[in-house]
Amino acid sequence: MSRIHEALKKAEEQKPPAWRPTDPTPLNYVGESEVAAASGVLHSPRRGEMPATGRCLRLEELRQRCIKPGWRLNPDYDVFSTQQSSALCAEQFRTLRSRLYRLREKSPIRTLLVTSTLPGEGKTFVALNLALAIARQHERRALLIDADLRASRLHVRLGAPSAPGLSDYLSGRADEFSILQADPKVELFLVPAGRSAPNPSELLANGTLKRFLDGMSPIFDWVIIDAPPVLAVADPSIIAEFCDGVLVVVQAGETAHDLVKTTLQEFRGNNLLGVVLNGANEGTNYGGYSYYAGFGMDKK
Ligand SMILES: Nc1ncnc2c1ncn2[C@@H]1O[C@H](COP(=O)(O)OP(=O)(O)O)[C@@H](O)[C@H]1O
Ligand SMILES: [Mg+2]
Repeated sequence: MSRIHEALKKAEEQKPPAWRPTDPTPLNYVGESEVAAASGVLHSPRRGEMPATGRCLRLEELRQRCIKPGWRLNPDYDVFSTQQSSALCAEQFRTLRSRLYRLREKSPIRTLLVTSTLPGEGKTFVALNLALAIARQHERRALLIDADLRASRLHVRLGAPSAPGLSDYLSGRADEFSILQADPKVELFLVPAGRSAPNPSELLANGTLKRFLDGMSPIFDWVIIDAPPVLAVADPSIIAEFCDGVLVVVQAGETAHDLVKTTLQEFRGNNLLGVVLNGANEGTNYGGYSYYAGFGMDKK
């Protein structure tokens, strides 16, 4: 059994308490061997290509023309909030961020899909806090895209309008400027999910999302896409085709090992970067990945 599977098996045996939004629990990141295996096939077809509009977008134009609704980020979901007693969790996100930058030294990764096997494993939590970790760095910009067109949550956590958003753009009802939101306080941009659509999978596969990402990824340091769970719908596999890398979130001690294995198989051999073990308890040793094992200590 590979190290990643051993780690997941051990995690399954640990039963952490149910989530409490005000009580963030740490992450662990496993799968370095898988990362190494996957890095050879990472693709980055986008650099230099033209966006949907047929011209290169510029950051200043985006800044001027996007919406600035004034977010009210819910501190309960922000591990960097001073109201949170989550220094350890914040540190884990900084560590995840630096691991991703190190991966980028080997492969040109910029667009990142965050998915999981089942609902409720922490995809939105990880996507949001990873994006915040990036945007908090000096002169770094992150774009968060809510591609969970069936159960969108990012706008709720950020206190942002839900529409117009991705579904409106993909169905031709909105342009890129009207779906992009920004906040002057953080170098974070958001594309919310938008109005509910009867056919999310078809919208995501109609070629428009790829063109949108082609236009956006040269402007941002990272583009992070929050997706639905793999077991429920085909959407994550569709979106993964247009992304440089996939992070699979696994809720430690909850998700059955076999189900996780199926999820990893879906992306292995394509662009799987690794697994974020969410809710791993401090001091727990997950199959050789002790709490800090595998992490470079991030001094940023
Ligand atoms: N590490 C964590 N610590 C504390 N709460 C968490 C953690 N991960 C997820 N949660 C909470 O669990 C709930 C479900 O997480 P969410 O990110 O919405 O899952 P998903 O997007 O996979 O459906 C949310 O209330 C979220 O804030
Ligand atoms: Mg979610």
